[in-house]
This record gives sequence, structure tokens and C-alpha cells, in this order.
Amino acid sequence: MLKSVGSKKINIAVFISGIGSNLKVLIDHSKKKKSKFNINLIITNNSKAKGIHYAARYMIKKKIINYSSIKSAEKNILLELHKNKINLICLAGFMKILSKNFIKKFKGKIINIHPSLLPKYKGLNTHQRALDNQEQYSGCTVHYVNSKLDSGKIILQKKVKIFKTDTCNKLAKRILKQEHLIYPKALEKVLSNL
Ligand code: GRF
Repeated sequence: MLKSVGSKKINIAVFISGIGSNLKVLIDHSKKKKSKFNINLIITNNSKAKGIHYAARYMIKKKIINYSSIKSAEKNILLELHKNKINLICLAGFMKILSKNFIKKFKGKIINIHPSLLPKYKGLNTHQRALDNQEQYSGCTVHYVNSKLDSGKIILQKKVKIFKTDTCNKLAKRILKQEHLIYPKALEKVLSNL
């Protein structure tokens, strides 16, 4: 489990590959008076990820990781995590799968947000698959990361109703709104269990 660091704030690294709207929400939350964490580091595999601009805007350290070799990529990430004394990793739209070895090294200290009601629709294209199966509900889940894809212990979930008129885009937007509400809440829950 997480090592308690007394009254000091928990240092968090957020891993992104794209827009970074969940990253933004976590940064906003970290600025609140009662927040128990700081976002100290942004890691990305994608030099074109839109969310990277939050690093300059909020003066957060960023690291773009070359993923041509997973082994050296993860070695570099681990170095950065240690250098920046990171206690917890939040995955937020990070499109690379972390190796078993990496996850072992950060056991119980990696969480992820996934746009479905897990255990349903692990992996990609969650909204389209939910629509194709004529589900009445979809949603989002924050969960611990273990060595099986999208299968770790669930921390928080939010159901979202699917309408007959829904398209993939419409549903994705509605679910993303809920993601922005549950990710900070789930993180607080994780931190309060320290
Ligand atoms: C979110 O839908 C998240 O659940 C999924 O990737 C998307 C990332 O969006 N894992 P953003 O980059 O945080 O805007």
C-alpha cells in the first residue's frame, strides 16, 4: 500500500497521451485548500499530446518519454518518478500498457480512469461497444491498476444513462463530464485510506 508521509502532501505523477481534461481536473483539485496532494510531474508518451501545455501553465515538471523500446521507456519513467519523489501515479488517458514489472514496482500506487462500467468493456472503443450491445447504461470507473488490463480493484464508479438518440460522441461527452467528478473523489478516497 501507499506509504504515509505524515502531514506532508502526497506527490502525484499524472500520465497522459491526449487532451488531458482529467489531468486539468486533478490539477484544479490539488490547488484546493484541503487537498492532500500535489501534481508534481506529467508524463507522456506523445510529444503532441494537447494536455502537455498544462505543464507550462501550472509550472509542473513534464517528461516526454520515447516509447520505441518499452524497456528503456519504463526505465526512464522510473528514474523520473524517483527523482521527483512520486508516491502515487494517476493514469488519465495514457495509451500505453504498463509492464507487469513496472506495476510490481509501484504496487497499489497506480490508479486509472476508464470510460465504462467495469468489469464491462475493458480496453478500447468502450462507447461504441456499449451502443452496439444496446446497453441501457454505461459510465466510468476509477480503479487500481494491476497486471491484468482494466481489472484492478474498483475505487469509484458512476452510471450514465444511454439514450436512444445517442451517438458515440454524445455518450463520450456525457461520460467524460462524470469522469471529471469521480476522479478527484476517488483520489481523495485513496488518500484518506493512507
Ligand atoms: C477518458 O475518457 C479516460 O477515461 C480514458 O481516456 C480519456 C482521456 O481523456 N482513459 P482526457 O485526456 O483526460 O481528456
